[in-house]
Amino acid sequence: MAIISSKKQPQDPNGEPKQNHKTAKAAPTEDLLQPAAAIDEQGKQEESIRPQRFADYIGQKDLKDVLDIAIKAAKSRSEVLDHLLLYGPPGLGKTTMAMILASEMGVNCKITSAPALERPRDIVGLLVNLKPGDVLFVDEIHRLSRMTEEILYPAMEDYRLDITIGRGSSARIRSLPLSKFTLVGATTRVGALTSPLRDRFGLVQKLRFYEVDELSKIVLRTAQLLDTPIAEDGATEIARRSRGTPRIANRLLKRVRDYAEVKSSGEINESVASEALQLFQVDPCGLDWTDRKMLSVIIEQFNGGPVGLETIAAATGEDTQTIEEVYEPYLMQIGYLSRTLRGRIATKTAYHHLGFTPPSNGQMSLL
Ligand SMILES: Nc1ncnc2c1ncn2[C@@H]1O[C@H](COP(=O)(O)OP(=O)(O)OP(=O)(O)O)[C@@H](O)[C@H]1O
Ligand SMILES: [Mg+2]
Repeated sequence: MAIISSKKQPQDPNGEPKQNHKTAKAAPTEDLLQPAAAIDEQGKQEESIRPQRFADYIGQKDLKDVLDIAIKAAKSRSEVLDHLLLYGPPGLGKTTMAMILASEMGVNCKITSAPALERPRDIVGLLVNLKPGDVLFVDEIHRLSRMTEEILYPAMEDYRLDITIGRGSSARIRSLPLSKFTLVGATTRVGALTSPLRDRFGLVQKLRFYEVDELSKIVLRTAQLLDTPIAEDGATEIARRSRGTPRIANRLLKRVRDYAEVKSSGEINESVASEALQLFQVDPCGLDWTDRKMLSVIIEQFNGGPVGLETIAAATGEDTQTIEEVYEPYLMQIGYLSRTLRGRIATKTAYHHLGFTPPSNGQMSLL
């Protein structure tokens, strides 16, 4: 398996990499609950616990059902798998699934990401070296340059590379045949893909946040790989605080493991997990500083809402894109925030969680 580049950099709204300003204002909770991979998680550590086969990939039943059929059908016809677009918030298992697909199909997986494909020759080099059936995984695919994207169109559709030779009136197009391959694209921003690119994917699949029982299984599996003794209630406690995200669950597990080794016998149970996570200031529902700030601004300054996205962004110091892609989906998933045409509204559950008294029913429904 060749890893060409899978580094991910945070982006500002103009598409430029930005400094992670959250570290500056961060309490310990901030980093622990960030769904994007931390620097030390981009290397070997995360690889060692990444599931390698379908059977080890926990949850995402709908996605697995669709892909299982696609794999079986492609295998029985001895064809390559359709191009696949995976989208959803960071840390939910997009890269993992791409690698599993390749290993289930018994082919190589070449991994790259759109920012590494700036010049046309970057993508051309990759395409011409693909072997029949190979999976080409392109992370952050919404960030492809226009030229790279145009090279991909005939490559995806007809397994053909169109190269322009010469310039001006003497320019001619030469076509080169390519091996049949599967492009797996991953993105956290499906709306930012151009429609010609999106239309060329035969399968478009969304990854969802995980339920507590699924995350709990993931924690138990990782603990086994790390040779860490853990009780089921300990795994559930970690799962509850992991924002529906396996990457965060695995990260919290490692912190709790350190705590258990230093402060108790080493076994993780419910009380050890909850003590440790309290010490690391991880909220019982996995909320971080920005989530809490968003909700408290809506509740305290705007009587529960509706509040516009720009206002929330200004109050939290986050950009609107991060609020929409990272924070809102989870808050809506756990029922703390609802989105209306007029803006965002904090729900009764959010009031209770932050220790506020919700307005009476009549007032809430007027909002
Ligand atoms: N379904 C799953 N079962 C078990 N572990 C999982 C699952 N999904 C993800 N993980 C774990 O979570 C980690 C993060 O997953 P992955 O790198 O695939 O996320 P991603 O969606 O590609 O994130 P990003 O958008 O940041 O690239 C992996 O190292 C893996 O160990
Ligand atoms: Mg990834």
